[in-house]
Amino acid sequence: MNELKRAIVTGATSGIGQSTVQALIDSGRQVLAVGRRADRLEALADKTGTSILAADVRDKEVLDGAIEDFSPDILVNNAGVGHGIDGLEDMDPAHIQEAIDINVTAPIQITAAVLKGMRARGNGHIVNIGSIAGLHTLVSALYGSTKAAIHLFSQNLRFELAGSGIRVTEICPGRVASGFYTAAKGDREKLDKMKQSGIRELQPEDIAASILFAIDAPSHVNVAMIEVLPTDQAIGGVKLHTIGE
Ligand SMILES: NC(=O)c1ccc[n+]([C@@H]2O[C@H](COP(=O)([O-])OP(=O)(O)OC[C@H]3O[C@@H](n4cnc5c(N)ncnc54)[C@H](OP(=O)(O)O)[C@@H]3O)[C@@H](O)[C@H]2O)c1
Repeated sequence: MNELKRAIVTGATSGIGQSTVQALIDSGRQVLAVGRRADRLEALADKTGTSILAADVRDKEVLDGAIEDFSPDILVNNAGVGHGIDGLEDMDPAHIQEAIDINVTAPIQITAAVLKGMRARGNGHIVNIGSIAGLHTLVSALYGSTKAAIHLFSQNLRFELAGSGIRVTEICPGRVASGFYTAAKGDREKLDKMKQSGIRELQPEDIAASILFAIDAPSHVNVAMIEVLPTDQAIGGVKLHTIGE
């Protein structure tokens, strides 16, 4: 473990966030795990010894208070929703604002809140969970645009903080087996169809390992961005999407 010892992880009740809490605890760090489902947080605390905060990341007052008390030197902005993953049409209009609030506004606000302490201490690490959907053109105008915002947020923040000792890492996963698609697809038939593609998905622990790789790098090394794909998934190039396909 390097000098970074206290981590806040948002979206810790399942998937990538839950595995990241475990990996950080295993590395000897203190962790504050944040999520809405209190029962899952309590089970995680029993299993790992993490501190927990049952809260919505949009609740700025609660998050600000917790940050002041916990004084983190690592922030993993992981909480996110996949609203609009299959396209903008036919989706619940209320989900548009929700996706922007959870995927974009909340991580920016939480980052702003941790920076003061990190600046004063002269070190810190912000890890933002983006997506391949924020880097490449997929059928996800809403979700992709929220993750594209996280991409340029990460790039600009790294620039703003250069020389401060605070590092910024963006992790861009491809398909990960988690609760994400169950919530995002919202429809058993669509989920089953996706599963039939036969892709051997990434596991949440694979992304946690990438996060720990960036955090455990020596202090003069900033792992700026990691794009992680399943071996069976490729992005880019030209694959014609024709009517009726
Ligand atoms: N799975 C993939 O293929 C994939 C690919 C690329 C990027 N990502 C990104 O990876 C991140 C983690 O997703 P995952 O795959 O691990 O999915 P997941 O299993 O669905 O986990 C999402 C987590 O976010 C939390 N969350 C959602 N809204 C929240 C809110 N308003 N306040 C607090 N916590 C909230 C959920 O907890 P509660 O519901 O308990 O609050 C849950 O712990 C997301 O940012 C996602 O966009 C996922």
